[in-house]
Amino acid sequence: MSRVMLVSPSRDLARRVRTAVGDDLTVLAPEQLPAGPGQLLALAADSDAVRVVLVDVGEDDVVTDRCLDLATRLEQAFPQVGVLLATTRGEELALRAMRAGVRDVLSPDLGVEDLRWVLRRTEEASATRTPGPRVDDVFTGRVITVASPKGGVGKTTIATNLAVGLAGQSPQGTVLLDLDLQFGDVGAALDLEPASTLGDLVTGAAARDVIAMKSLLSRHASGLHVIPGVASPVEADRITTAQVSALVELLKREFRYVIIDTAPGLGEQTLAALDHTTDLVLVTGLDVPGVRGLRKELALLDELDLHPATRHVVVNMADTSGGLSVADVEATIGRGVDLVVPRSRKVVRSTNEGRPIVLGQPRDAVSKGLQTLISRLAPVTDGGGPSGRHRGRLGR
Ligand SMILES: Nc1ncnc2c1ncn2[C@@H]1O[C@H](COP(=O)(O)OP(=O)(O)OP(=O)(O)O)[C@@H](O)[C@H]1O
Ligand SMILES: [Mg+2]
Repeated sequence: MSRVMLVSPSRDLARRVRTAVGDDLTVLAPEQLPAGPGQLLALAADSDAVRVVLVDVGEDDVVTDRCLDLATRLEQAFPQVGVLLATTRGEELALRAMRAGVRDVLSPDLGVEDLRWVLRRTEEASATRTPGPRVDDVFTGRVITVASPKGGVGKTTIATNLAVGLAGQSPQGTVLLDLDLQFGDVGAALDLEPASTLGDLVTGAAARDVIAMKSLLSRHASGLHVIPGVASPVEADRITTAQVSALVELLKREFRYVIIDTAPGLGEQTLAALDHTTDLVLVTGLDVPGVRGLRKELALLDELDLHPATRHVVVNMADTSGGLSVADVEATIGRGVDLVVPRSRKVVRSTNEGRPIVLGQPRDAVSKGLQTLISRLAPVTDGGGPSGRHRGRLGR
């Protein structure tokens, strides 16, 4: 077993880490650091057991760049492994490290007790993080619901970006449903002027007949099918949870990916969607009320016995200015954070322009983070197309 990997030139740090974790440790020198995350884990005695990689980047800029790059790729490929950075330049590197998916930045002088605590905390959080989908789950329709206890944390942004990203892989097979009945703004986020709305889809012929239903869907340039929210609050009041439930049931038989954007909290429509949900994306900002709300929401989901196959906790609009860290979030909610998306003004612009950032600015840090989530939810196929059964490797 080797749960912890340490990359460091310092024998002293290696000695302290060994005292902290015992023999569950593989130590590498920085020059042994391979380029790929799989290659790195393969250097451990038991690569599947690794939960924490602690990289001591010293003062060296080249090693720092390589480490941060590797941290991003580890985060994408092996979300169950947490990366920690040891550096004397913590303040300078904190933001870059966080963007790269690093869980915490430590001083290389940390004592044994502190090291033991931080390594254990990271390991526990890593153990609860969601690995990518199992191969067998991949070709059944997935229902991906984006929810949060608080408003304005980026649900619609994440849902629309996920949806166009998944539509890139499966243009005929992806549909986005706006279930924020009162204030849904999926149409605006995608710059769509819908001819029909959710109200039209859950009544009349469309509620009974797939062809009629499909003829009412709006199409985005990416190929994505869209069911925008209702036209007015009056129309919203008329829509029942049974209608929503029947619609989601129909959609999941017809589409490979059904993405559902929701209103804040766990209202009755969101609960109806959660009954069908295979993958739940829970979003919070780095603020105390949001994180506490998330803790309550997780507890409530457990109480209601709502256990989708995967839960992905996303910290959105992350910046360090509020004094809260991702580690604080993990300590509060008692599980790992699966993805950290930085705050960026480009997102606001993309929302205002109605063009999701993964399409408009694919190289931006926000887009890269969202791509990580997309690849965890979708397999990388080898050309099978929307109905293809060619199984590629999992895009974890
Ligand atoms: N990572 C980010 N960086 C900066 N701004 C962001 C980021 N994510 C979202 N935003 C902005 O925050 C605002 C709220 O986002 P969004 O509408 O997606 O939140 P929401 O959770 O759907 O809100 P509501 O609960 O009201 O539906 C938008 O203007 C959006 O552009
Ligand atoms: Mg919204």
